[in-house]
Amino acid sequence: MRIDILTIFPNMFSGPLNESLTKKAQEKNLVEIKIHDIRDFAEDKHQTVDDTPFGGGGGMVMRLEPLCKALESIWDESEDMKQTCLILTTPQGEIFSQEKAKELSLKNRLVIICGHYKGVDERLGKLYPLEEISIGDYVLTGGEIPALIILDTTVRLIPGVLGDFESAQADSFYDGILGPPQYTRPAEFRGLKVPEVLLSGDHEKIRLWRKKEALQRTLQRRPDLVNLDLLSEEEKKILEEIKREVRSEK
Ligand code: ADE
Repeated sequence: MRIDILTIFPNMFSGPLNESLTKKAQEKNLVEIKIHDIRDFAEDKHQTVDDTPFGGGGGMVMRLEPLCKALESIWDESEDMKQTCLILTTPQGEIFSQEKAKELSLKNRLVIICGHYKGVDERLGKLYPLEEISIGDYVLTGGEIPALIILDTTVRLIPGVLGDFESAQADSFYDGILGPPQYTRPAEFRGLKVPEVLLSGDHEKIRLWRKKEALQRTLQRRPDLVNLDLLSEEEKKILEEIKREVRSEK
């Protein structure tokens, strides 16, 4: 996959992209990430990328010319849009999710424009097939951290980035529910013991225990995520068992 980021703060990317799995994914040539400074495409000597809004009001709006020039330098309209996604980070976009990350991880190419100021001139969306993405209902100082979140979440889902050991299938949200509790050595710490079943070596028992814990945790913390239509028959049975246990405790 190739990922291009268009930003007015290119230095914000050097740390996160040169650490951890994202670094390894680039070293293994599973992903190529290029950062482009939008200011390099500004036409005036002050490298202006924003201007006051027509109609008045506070704040600044990102200008079209440098953005379009930057886009034209890396992307052309003959590209197969089934394989490419052009993203603008903005609090007004569709809320980002694990599901969206899975969809993006199947593309060959992502271009992420980091929004800023009051926003981007609305006509950009008329000129390019933009997908507007928000990382949540709060406002950050700019779209760079959202771009990093989208990139990080997506890159780890590209086949080959995670080893079997870290497998994405064990993630919270991977199959729509939270993950189970995890423990590591020592088996007892300050009187706190690891659940016996995890030491039993019985893989089937452990699998079922984890499923039940994951469902229980999801019911308690994020009941909004429990969608009966998406649960397997086994999960539905476990859910019934949990509900029976809760009723008998009352
Ligand atoms: N820019 C500022 N806040 C944002 C958000 N919540 N999501 C995406 N881009 C943003």
